[in-house]
Amino acid sequence: MVEIARLNRLESAGQLREVVQALGYSLPIDDQVLSAAEDSPLSQAIEIGGFHVGNRWCIHPMEGWDGTDDGLPSEYTVRRWQHFGASGAKLIWGGEAFAVRRDGRANPNQLYLGPQSLEAMTALLASLRQSHREKFGPRADADLLVGLQLTHSGRFCRPNRKDRTEPRIVYYHPVLDAKFGIDPHNESVVLQDGEIDRLVEDFVAAAKMADRAGFQFVDVKSCHGYLGHEFLSAFDRPGEYGGDLAGRTRFLRHVIQAIRDACPRIMIGVRLSAFDYPPFRPDPRSSRPGRPGPGVPHEFPVPYPGFGCRRDAPLEIDFTEPIALLRTLRDECGVAFVNITAGSPYYNPHIQRPALYPPSDGYQPPEDPLVGCLRQIDVVRQLKEAVPDLPMVGTAYTYFQEFLPHVAQGVVREGWADFVGVGRQVLAYWDLPADTLAGRPLQYKRLCRTFSDCTTGPRNGLVSGCYPLDPYYKGLHEAAALKQIKAKSRESEGEKNETRATSSSSEGAREL
Ligand SMILES: Cc1cc2nc3c(=O)[nH]c(=O)nc-3n(C[C@H](O)[C@H](O)[C@H](O)COP(=O)(O)O)c2cc1C
Ligand code: SF4
Repeated sequence: MVEIARLNRLESAGQLREVVQALGYSLPIDDQVLSAAEDSPLSQAIEIGGFHVGNRWCIHPMEGWDGTDDGLPSEYTVRRWQHFGASGAKLIWGGEAFAVRRDGRANPNQLYLGPQSLEAMTALLASLRQSHREKFGPRADADLLVGLQLTHSGRFCRPNRKDRTEPRIVYYHPVLDAKFGIDPHNESVVLQDGEIDRLVEDFVAAAKMADRAGFQFVDVKSCHGYLGHEFLSAFDRPGEYGGDLAGRTRFLRHVIQAIRDACPRIMIGVRLSAFDYPPFRPDPRSSRPGRPGPGVPHEFPVPYPGFGCRRDAPLEIDFTEPIALLRTLRDECGVAFVNITAGSPYYNPHIQRPALYPPSDGYQPPEDPLVGCLRQIDVVRQLKEAVPDLPMVGTAYTYFQEFLPHVAQGVVREGWADFVGVGRQVLAYWDLPADTLAGRPLQYKRLCRTFSDCTTGPRNGLVSGCYPLDPYYKGLHEAAALKQIKAKSRESEGEKNETRATSSSSEGAREL
């Protein structure tokens, strides 16, 4: 059994420091969280591509699986973006993944580029900016930087049905193909070079739309197992989009250059999975029906095709190529900043979004989830050291819960990251950055306890949202469906005991 330190039982930042140290890491954790009036490091402005960004909080892209059939925002989408605007963060990284073409969607409710996108995305952005002004003052959005995340979902495309993938891949993968039902004899799933050239044009068309809609930057998404990320590990793809690092990064570089040519005023960012691991699965030896065991790696061949991990030992990070790519993005591509993340939520969620409770298709934590956070934070620290002058957003802070502001402040103060990005925490408690900057006490009942309902929901065809803690989602009929799905996967007595134990020790858990 993995020993897991329950952060909600710790009484001080000092105790968290001891836990971190015992795990073999170091982390700057501030004892006192300062407000903006007290000159908090989190309240310091920073220049990005000549734009003055008002503070160091960033909201990560968070998709809700809740667009209309035409790929337009729904009332759920608008509400979420308004929360992003009201969060207090001055950097909104991408809003959510926006597919550059209809068949590149990860689900049939993902936003995508269509004839009505310009009008709809202009209105969506305006509602975010308006909610920022309503909360922080009539001119408060002068230092608010908002971008749109552009994507193609690659091997995880589900454009028509929630339960059917229609993958487009860059190369046959020795483990992922079998795991996600890709027939290695089906040649039509592999993107041909000519199709890739057209895809570059799709990214440009989406960037033009974003530019006209008023977004100040676009993110050329290169993470989480989607197409842009898959290119980076296409070691065995013949032709110009595979092979050496120049070939594997050609797609990304072409997209960036083409966007720069077509929309010279828009800034470009890249969200990058800077390291990867092979896929994990529940340990078959200890899994029972409805009770997945702890994650263990699938068997994998070597050399393994992963970006940012050793080919001969892919459970170890190798920074050589990520550093080379980041230098190229900074020096040759004119990328203004990057957002560093890891792995993929589909095949190794514990390194990507550390959680105490796995999503329905996941596995029990193979390590203390805190290690997943510390690993990502340390990776950003090392990348920043190797590639200075390229501003970086860090990821995986939600799990710190009541200590999130202590850690965020420490990390920015020490220069380990330029921005602290928050994902799930913003679904549960969207104005945590504003409370922190204003010196208000945290609202403990609203803290995300990483129940993973916002991932389990969409994995089962429901919209995503914070069902346990956000009253709006609690009241939806989807909440009842989700309860049933979770009840099925909570059959074992062991897990019931676990839930009871947590319920008596955490405000958030009581909500379940
Ligand atoms: C419901 C949900 C939707 C997400 N959607 C996106 C997305 O559209 N684009 C993206 O790059 N990451 C997406 N992510 C990943 C988050 O941006 C973030 O990297 C991850 O949740 C880890 O950060 P956290 O620990 O603060 O939650 C999503 C995560 C969740 C839980
Ligand atoms: S459902 Fe809510 S509490 Fe659970 S992980 Fe998502 S945001 Fe956090």
